[in-house]
Amino acid sequence: MAKDCNLKNKAFYKGKRVFVTGHTGYKGAWLAAMLSELGAQATCYALEAPAGSMFEKMHGEEMVHSVIGDVRDYDKLHAAMQEAQPEIVLHLAAQAIVNDCFQNPRYAYESNVMGTVNLLEAVRACPSVKSVMVVTTDKVYENKGDGALYVETDPLGGVDPYSSSKTCMEYITDTYKRSYLQTPERMVGVCTARASNVLGGGDYVQSRLIPSILRSIAEGKPVELRHPHQTRPWQSMMDALNGYLSLGRLAYEEPEKYSSQWNIGPTKDGIKDVLWVVEKMQAYYADTHYVVGGAFDVKESGTLGLDITKSLQHLDWEPLLTCDKMLYNIVEYYKLERSGMPVREIVQKQIREFFEIDG
Ligand SMILES: NC(=O)c1ccc[n+]([C@@H]2O[C@H](COP(=O)([O-])OP(=O)(O)OC[C@H]3O[C@@H](n4cnc5c(N)ncnc54)[C@H](O)[C@@H]3O)[C@@H](O)[C@H]2O)c1
Repeated sequence: MAKDCNLKNKAFYKGKRVFVTGHTGYKGAWLAAMLSELGAQATCYALEAPAGSMFEKMHGEEMVHSVIGDVRDYDKLHAAMQEAQPEIVLHLAAQAIVNDCFQNPRYAYESNVMGTVNLLEAVRACPSVKSVMVVTTDKVYENKGDGALYVETDPLGGVDPYSSSKTCMEYITDTYKRSYLQTPERMVGVCTARASNVLGGGDYVQSRLIPSILRSIAEGKPVELRHPHQTRPWQSMMDALNGYLSLGRLAYEEPEKYSSQWNIGPTKDGIKDVLWVVEKMQAYYADTHYVVGGAFDVKESGTLGLDITKSLQHLDWEPLLTCDKMLYNIVEYYKLERSGMPVREIVQKQIREFFEIDG
């Protein structure tokens, strides 16, 4: 049964002008496809899609208006936004791989920190914008490693370059809201979404868990797990993006009420250790084996979890897919792809099922 927020998002986004950054990435490609399915007029801005990425495979440039550009290039970003005249802005573009950011912190800070300044500056110069939602991460919290679930008022303090650049994005967004976007002359809804690790089909980044499991199966080798007993809040792609859509909508409809920070994570059902995911995959692929090991430069946090009570109470949003259904969808995605079904059709199938759209 479609929940209320799905119905509201479905009705709201039809015909809306939406500006998305990061659409050539993992989450952004799904979001672009969702907006296309919901009938929005999406203009999307990001770097070129990597070869073999989901965006490339589904020919995403035929689904949304795709502008290839760097968020560090203010003039180009500003021009793209001026041309689009969006009502809603969803900012996902970022250097998002923790280890890459550790290797190249200057690029990470330029993209994540100055990229966000440029995005918000472009919003400031674009009066059509009624709401802006900036995606950060659960890693913005000062991680005490004590197993507690973090609430939105907990102290921030991401330590490694990725987490610290994302923490900066929180402060920058708040500054733009207070200084420029919510004034006596203008009232833009401005919020941030602190999301957990998402899982879904279409992830081809080899350092992440599902692609590394699938690659190991294909190569007949055991997958290397760095920390099998570390818990992570695993969340389905669909639920995370539906949370972003809800925030973009609600911040548009009631900017004063919804302009704050929101944890977009799974319920407690989704907080599992890495080994749980691997063992579930073994149910689908009997030849899934693992060893403990693998190199990683960044000291990873032991326990990380989000308390999503505030979002559950105020956003009329909730995670709809159980962990089992999420993994079922992932396996379905890759099996259908291997059977030769075009990636765009697989993506559309799963989105239409989620939103109960007649195909
Ligand atoms: N994947 C997750 O589990 C997860 C969890 C929490 C938060 N997030 C956040 O969600 C967002 C999307 O993550 P993802 O997993 O899709 O990442 P991704 O690496 O797959 O995609 C990143 C996107 O950002 C774009 N980008 C990067 N640097 C850019 C630049 N300088 N100029 C223009 N575009 C640039 C890329 O082109 C790509 O479209 C990020 O902000 C990330 O921090 C992701």
